[in-house]
Amino acid sequence: MKKGNIIIKNASELVTCRGFEAKQGKEMNELHIISDGAVIIEEGIIKALGKTEEIVGSIDENNYEVFDASEKTVMPGFVDSHTHFVFGGYRAEEFSWRLRGDSYMDIMNRGGGIINSVKGTMGASKEELIELGKHRLNSMLSFGVTTVEGKSGYGLDYETEIKQLEVMEELDSIHPLDIVKTFLGAHAVPKEYKGKEDEFIDFIIDKVLPVVKERKLAEFCDIFCEQNVFSVEQSRRLLSKAKEMGMKIKIHADEIVRLGGAELAAELGAVSADHLLQASDEGLRAMAESKVVATLLPGTAFSLKEEFARARYMIDNGCAVALATDFNPGSCFTESIPLIISLATLHMNMTPEEAITALTINGAAALDRASEIGSIDVGKKGDVVIHEFPSYKFLPYHIGVSTVEKVIKNGIMVYDKNKIFERM
Ligand code: NIG
Ligand code: FE
Repeated sequence: MKKGNIIIKNASELVTCRGFEAKQGKEMNELHIISDGAVIIEEGIIKALGKTEEIVGSIDENNYEVFDASEKTVMPGFVDSHTHFVFGGYRAEEFSWRLRGDSYMDIMNRGGGIINSVKGTMGASKEELIELGKHRLNSMLSFGVTTVEGKSGYGLDYETEIKQLEVMEELDSIHPLDIVKTFLGAHAVPKEYKGKEDEFIDFIIDKVLPVVKERKLAEFCDIFCEQNVFSVEQSRRLLSKAKEMGMKIKIHADEIVRLGGAELAAELGAVSADHLLQASDEGLRAMAESKVVATLLPGTAFSLKEEFARARYMIDNGCAVALATDFNPGSCFTESIPLIISLATLHMNMTPEEAITALTINGAAALDRASEIGSIDVGKKGDVVIHEFPSYKFLPYHIGVSTVEKVIKNGIMVYDKNKIFERM
């Protein structure tokens, strides 16, 4: 039996999320479900799918590991397209201040926030960050995530930014999860550059970005475009440069103040613009027009007690919406996919179908990988999850609880919820 040869058959619902590009607007409701479905994976790649009796009948099952998914739902692995999972130190104290009423920006302006995690990350060794990263990735895997994006941005100096990216590179090679790396050197203004933000952008452009590009340490360049952080003009300057150098771009846009980040994302042809709590109608329509994926992070709005992004308006106006956790030590310390599904469906009025599209094929599109992952389609990676209930409708219904039973990555089973230690 070759490695990565698997058959999953008799699935009550095979939710394919079929497609090779982002789904915009109404298309987000189409999950392309096959009842009594089966999928065949060979050497890690999806080879066939369809009704069980049609595709499994003529196959010699001895050449495969075979899973019976009767009464279960089979879906593509989730793609968490926005996280900051490599960091040292925690900010539980700040969280308790926020529960007492301090705002995220108040804490940041007092020298807490991102800068606090910068200290923790600078102080952590590469080995420590790899160890922490492994635990976090294991937890993501248990939620059915098979590809995750990770950002630097808790360094803000040359060494620590590079260290974070190297940690992700190493984790990508040792952990089953695939990691897509983003350089977010412009995540906050370090103390020594306060009032000299333009100089800091120069430093990033001249000293760090070329090395990141040269050593292929990141595929995307991102920036926190926000009042009191980096302006639209500074964001335009850095992202244009990154694009010129052949990197793809993302932007933390219009999260707290409506600065025009959505408009800038459309202007520059970003792959995604993320957060968008305050994005204008014009900005969102421009994004729909230029096919910039709108990545919404409801865990962050929830954790910061902010109004949720206007998902309904975005989808109704033709945007491709992705959902992601934004897992980070400050504004959203959770990697919980069930929480994101609950918030999206119960609080943002997204349909269950839209939420699933947003976490699969549109998540893949937010990483420019819709042709490789994000759906169960012939030729894509064999990244497939078996959920323990007979319909995808159980995902939002089973509030806050993971329905994931088995995770298959590149045709190999890497997580099984039922493997619990026996009583001695
Ligand atoms: O996406 N908005 C900026 N960056 C992160 C927060 C990072 C932090 O607070 O440590 C975010 O929410
Ligand atoms: Fe973020």
